[in-house]
Amino acid sequence: MKAAFILTALIGSGLAHPGMDGVLSELRKRQFQPSTGLLGDLKTLPDSGLSTTGKAIKAILQGTGNPIDTATTYTAPSGGKDAAACKADRCCIWKYIANDMRTAMFDASSGTCTDIARGAIRLGFHDAAAWNTSIAGGGADGSILLSGSEMSRTENLALASVGTQMQTWFNTYKSYGISMADLIQLGAKVGAGSCPGGPRIRFFIGRTDNPNPAPTGLLPPPFFTAQQLIDNFGNKTIGPGGLVALLGAHTASKQTQVDTTKIGAPQDSTPGKWDQKYFVETLDANAPSTIVKFQSDINVATSPATSPIWQQFLSNKSAWDKAYAAEYIRMSLLGFQDINGMAECTKVMPSVLT
Ligand code: HEM
Ligand SMILES: *[C@@H]1O[C@H](CO)[C@@H](O)[C@H](O)[C@H]1NC(C)=O
Ligand SMILES: *[C@@H]1O[C@H](CO)[C@@H](O)[C@H](O)[C@H]1NC(C)=O
Ligand SMILES: *[C@@H]1O[C@H](CO)[C@@H](O)[C@H](O)[C@H]1NC(C)=O
Repeated sequence: MKAAFILTALIGSGLAHPGMDGVLSELRKRQFQPSTGLLGDLKTLPDSGLSTTGKAIKAILQGTGNPIDTATTYTAPSGGKDAAACKADRCCIWKYIANDMRTAMFDASSGTCTDIARGAIRLGFHDAAAWNTSIAGGGADGSILLSGSEMSRTENLALASVGTQMQTWFNTYKSYGISMADLIQLGAKVGAGSCPGGPRIRFFIGRTDNPNPAPTGLLPPPFFTAQQLIDNFGNKTIGPGGLVALLGAHTASKQTQVDTTKIGAPQDSTPGKWDQKYFVETLDANAPSTIVKFQSDINVATSPATSPIWQQFLSNKSAWDKAYAAEYIRMSLLGFQDINGMAECTKVMPSVLT
């Protein structure tokens, strides 16, 4: 910020060295740059053919739309979820679901998010990101729970409890016409927002379910180098900035499989809050010994390609929240084609917790 200001001033005054422009634009490039690739039918539809929701999602995917909405609210009509007034609004049933999720994901007595919240954030990632740009379909398609086989993969074993909870919600609400794919992505968004400090991410419905298991080998392991992670996410249309923003979800994380001598150890000292301590403590040699750091997280925190972005999010919470929300909306759409046919139900999202 300061450097950019000085540079602008130098350039403005004509004092900058001719090579300085290049240096400054290099510095700017190392700061967060949103992922901008289009997905699904938005890649081919002309603007004139876009629905209101299609336009809104396209703007978010291009880094211009606002991915956070703290203002839009809604109260379900009286008469309950079976009333005609509820059936008349596609979003209404989602209000009931979002309320159930918030109850399971936020522990009011301690003011922190629960294991179901952290599990749901990761479940949304693991359903959507078992995908790359050369795979038709797949992605955020509910297959992690519908296939009957993805949950027994090593990387999903720790998700058993949240998987059972999500299946219970699905059984309760499936007769109302919801998809598992939408349910899982709502869970990931309500999960983040149930950790105090978390963003209220815009929510879109309309994904279709797929019972076929995703290909294996597409989710990154916790020993990948920064370059391997950048390539892995790049192949999902998520740039290095998106990688860093999304990894920030480990602010709410606890591990059971990486260091089995410290089962339940968090990745920062406040796993119940959506704060920047994960960015600080991953880099801190004197971080509390109660936390477990993943090698992949350290690699991204310290690689020259990603560390300036790490520093930016470490010092600017609103920049991180905005980046997280936009990149997570992208994540939640991977593999889905009919994005233009989706509907926005942000109004059902639970309120922001501070
Ligand atoms: C990019 C590379 C990533 C790697 C290598 C990675 C790896 C891991 C590992 C090994 C665990 C611990 C699992 C266990 O031992 O129980 C974990 C937990 C978690 N991860 Fe990631 N992760 C990555 C990215 C992400 C992303 C993009 C998100 C979400 C947007 C995310 C959200 C979480 C959450 C919330 C947990 C805690 C789950 C719980 O406590 O139940 N991770 N991750
Ligand atoms: C995408 O994943 C498939 C299946 O694992 C793999 O064969 C292909 O090389 C990957 N493509 C890219 C661009 O990563
Ligand atoms: C996809 O991954 C390969 C390595 O597997 C890498 O060379 C390539 O740059 C990646 N593509 C993108 C768009 O990141
Ligand atoms: C923090 O990020 C926000 C959102 O990107 C930006 O508007 C603001 O200027 C940044 N603040 C500082 C101090 O850089």
